[in-house]
Amino acid sequence: MSVVARRRFVVLISGQGTNMQAIVNYCATPASNAEVSAVIASRSGAPGLEWASNVGLPAICLAHTEFDTREDFDQALAKAIDAYEPDYVLLAGFMRVLTETFVKRYAGRLVNIHPSLLPAFPGLHTHRQALAQGVQVHGCTVHFVTPQLDHGPIIAQGVIPVQAGETAESLSARVLKLEHRVYSEVCEWLAQGWVALTDDQRVTVENISSRSFFG
Ligand code: GAR
Repeated sequence: MSVVARRRFVVLISGQGTNMQAIVNYCATPASNAEVSAVIASRSGAPGLEWASNVGLPAICLAHTEFDTREDFDQALAKAIDAYEPDYVLLAGFMRVLTETFVKRYAGRLVNIHPSLLPAFPGLHTHRQALAQGVQVHGCTVHFVTPQLDHGPIIAQGVIPVQAGETAESLSARVLKLEHRVYSEVCEWLAQGWVALTDDQRVTVENISSRSFFG
């Protein structure tokens, strides 16, 4: 029997949504103590939205192009999210910069996955950046979101070696596969109530010995 209440996740996407699919699949496992309450996309026609709808989840499109300002969009987004009363809001390929007001509203409950080993390569084109710098390991980071883009407290990281002849495309595909594993595992920790933030903004996770994954 679970000792903590079943956790509710709202997942935000902008595109393909393969990380969202991994999260939904994790929640569908019999031992999971979490559920995806809704999937919200910032772009109309995001393929992930159709996938979510096909598996019977509330799938909401909130096209950012319909809003005059970032503040207006974030306000509508918060309203849509809050209707589902989630414990956590999971960004999964959500390609919008969020306002400070929005980020603060969900402080300690807003989680993102980024395709690099933060603090290296924040922002876009992370695989291209990694190759340009000649790094020999690359990967992904799941972290709490803070107002500074791609800088929040790190929950877990996945690492892969950079291989000879690697391209941005091959790196992207290998990192994405690892992302699914890392994000699912973090969801399990969140679902179990094991993840906490200390006063000095460090993450602690009970009951596990390592927060790094190797692909
Ligand atoms: C993933 O690689 C995710 O880490 C990245 O977008 C991709 C979305 O793929 N997110 C960011 O770059 C956010 N800064 P998906 O839609 O198939 O999950």
